[in-house]
Amino acid sequence: MVTYASANPNQKRTPGIIPLHGEEGFEGMRKAGALAAQALDLMYEQAKPGVTTAALDRLAFEFAKDNNAVPATLNYRGYRHSICTSINHVVCHGIPNEKPLKEGDIVNIDITLIVDGWHGDTSRMYPIGAISRKAERLIEVTYESLARALEVAKPGNTTGDIGAAIQSYAEAERTSVVRDFVGHGLGRLFHDEPNILHFGTPGSGPELKPGMIFTIEPMLNLGRQHVKVLADGWTAVTRDRTLSAQCEHSIGITEHGCEIFTQSAKGLFNPLEASR
Ligand code: MF3
Ligand code: CO
Ligand code: CO
Repeated sequence: MVTYASANPNQKRTPGIIPLHGEEGFEGMRKAGALAAQALDLMYEQAKPGVTTAALDRLAFEFAKDNNAVPATLNYRGYRHSICTSINHVVCHGIPNEKPLKEGDIVNIDITLIVDGWHGDTSRMYPIGAISRKAERLIEVTYESLARALEVAKPGNTTGDIGAAIQSYAEAERTSVVRDFVGHGLGRLFHDEPNILHFGTPGSGPELKPGMIFTIEPMLNLGRQHVKVLADGWTAVTRDRTLSAQCEHSIGITEHGCEIFTQSAKGLFNPLEASR
């Protein structure tokens, strides 16, 4: 059973209660989402062979500071960085370090910026120089799975319709969907209700209603779905060491569909398309 409640500024995350946001929330999310997207646009020019993920992290930190924003991951549950950088078989939550990126790597950069108290959360894939055909295909399938999820993100459908759209397409394309990490409600909170599973059955889960704000962030693997978290407590990798890709938007449900808060003003959301 879930219930829906008007979002209120002092609300803590409460299991089973899905906040519904009004115009103030949508306005706040537009600003936060646009700035997070702009930060990822900036990364597009920088993510090249020889550059370290620590350098990208510093750039993200400076960008946030210059724009009166705060990176939500900084000091979040002991995490010490402004972005997550997940390379090749790293599924998510990769920690920036001083190792240079190399030709052929595929990197997910995930950033959440807090602007006036609202959280804009988004991630994209970055091909480093020329990449393999199979890496390219995985990235394309991951973007297309998110695109299909966005198509069904509308009132009357359920969270399960979103998961089913991703899973059915991903598996038809011979990729697997990671189960261990999910999309999430957000707003003044970084992680709120509802959970958005990237797999599932049509019609299951809570019904989508105008005012819901959440992320969709599918992680797809070329091999099997299973992941493990490394000893650092963060880095999640595929157990079979096959490549993994992810992309993420923050969205709000509207009367007839959804509004994407984290679209790239430069058309760089899918860097593979952008470089063609
Ligand atoms: N941005 C991630 C998400 O999409 C969360 C990262 S939490 C961190 O929800 F601590 F690992 F950075
Ligand atoms: Co997220
Ligand atoms: Co994110």
